[in-house]
Amino acid sequence: MTTPSPATAATPAAPDILWFLPTAGDGAYLGSEIGHRPVDPKYLAEIARAADRLGYYGVLVPTGQSMEDPWITAAALIPQTERLRFLLALRPGVFTPALAARQAATLDRLSNGRVLINVVAGGAPQELAGDGFFLDHDARYDHAREFLHIWRGLLAGETVRYEGEHLKADGGRLLFPPVQRPHPPLYFGGSSPAAHQLAAELHDAYLTWGEPPEQVKAKIDDVRERAAKLGRTLRYGLRVHLIVRETEAEAWAAADRLISHLSDDTIAAAQKRFREESDAVGQHRMADLHGGRRDKLEISPNLWAGIGLVRGGAGTALVGDPKTVAARIREYQALGIDTIVASGYPHLEESYRVAELLFPELGIPAGGRRDRLAPVPAPVAARTETRLNWEGFPPPLVAAS
Ligand SMILES: Cc1cc2nc3c(=O)[nH]c(=O)nc-3n(C[C@H](O)[C@H](O)[C@H](O)COP(=O)(O)O)c2cc1C
Repeated sequence: MTTPSPATAATPAAPDILWFLPTAGDGAYLGSEIGHRPVDPKYLAEIARAADRLGYYGVLVPTGQSMEDPWITAAALIPQTERLRFLLALRPGVFTPALAARQAATLDRLSNGRVLINVVAGGAPQELAGDGFFLDHDARYDHAREFLHIWRGLLAGETVRYEGEHLKADGGRLLFPPVQRPHPPLYFGGSSPAAHQLAAELHDAYLTWGEPPEQVKAKIDDVRERAAKLGRTLRYGLRVHLIVRETEAEAWAAADRLISHLSDDTIAAAQKRFREESDAVGQHRMADLHGGRRDKLEISPNLWAGIGLVRGGAGTALVGDPKTVAARIREYQALGIDTIVASGYPHLEESYRVAELLFPELGIPAGGRRDRLAPVPAPVAARTETRLNWEGFPPPLVAAS
């Protein structure tokens, strides 16, 4: 076990470290039935409670056909946690903006301001078609732009009248405001020019999968430049797995072990699926890092692409002892990254390893930061409404602060 190293002038502020809820299942070996843990609500609750107690800033909850619904999962886990934030994937194609605004506000109120939102334009056209959403790659970003204009207006308390190419709203309102004003923070990932532009225009934080630092730098520079033209600034985050052990040798042995039951056929089938079923620039960049080969997986010092041999999306891990991994994270911090969305297999055990070994090296206090929770605002006084609401009660008497 390492001893805490105090933050010095040369050490950047501790990043926000989020963990991940494996709502599609978990396990000790990728691509294998051995040690597989099918998704289970009680297990997800164990991970959320561990992340809460260990002091993670939040947990990312993904969305897709092969996983539990993130919004319902968060609603169940919020009462079982105290400070953990929930970074909830939101696919604009499967919600209306008004429903998404109401759900975001209600969850933010139920959790005293612990909702973060990860807007996901989606990168698998077949899967999206199954969900009833048929737009092509760039049109999905145009649709998301319209969606966010309506969503942000509603959360900010406006009466929204909007007519776009894809979406329309006439007199929409939100009477129960979110705790976080004007709205829960909007995170966003995507590697295409259309994604970078939408990040710059309407989001609070840009997330990138764990590519080598120079590639991450190029993406951040592009988003930053686009945002500067609009007079905006964003925060930046890295979505990456972590394999941290007391020694380098142990960490690399753990990485090898994770893919030790993975067959070449399984890798080939997964790579074929990613190529054929995904139109996401980001997914193709991930696949290009290793080209489906097992022999060149350390693609940059301590950055290992073995996970992406079979996992879609985030496919790389920082591997090493605590000091080395912390130093690699600081390299990304020097590029502007202030948020790490991490994970590791299995997610319960690895949440402990990362917190116990790495948090001290990053200057994160034991148990995490103890931010005070925000109070829940009163409903909006229906200033222009004197009639009873649909439940037969008068409108709220107290004006929102
Ligand atoms: C941190 C992060 C998390 C993501 N989570 C999801 C997810 O839960 N579900 C999903 O379908 N896509 C997810 N994506 C994919 C992106 O939202 C986006 O659809 C994809 O990268 C396609 O965009 P591109 O062509 O601009 O790269 C995620 C991307 C990033 C960077």
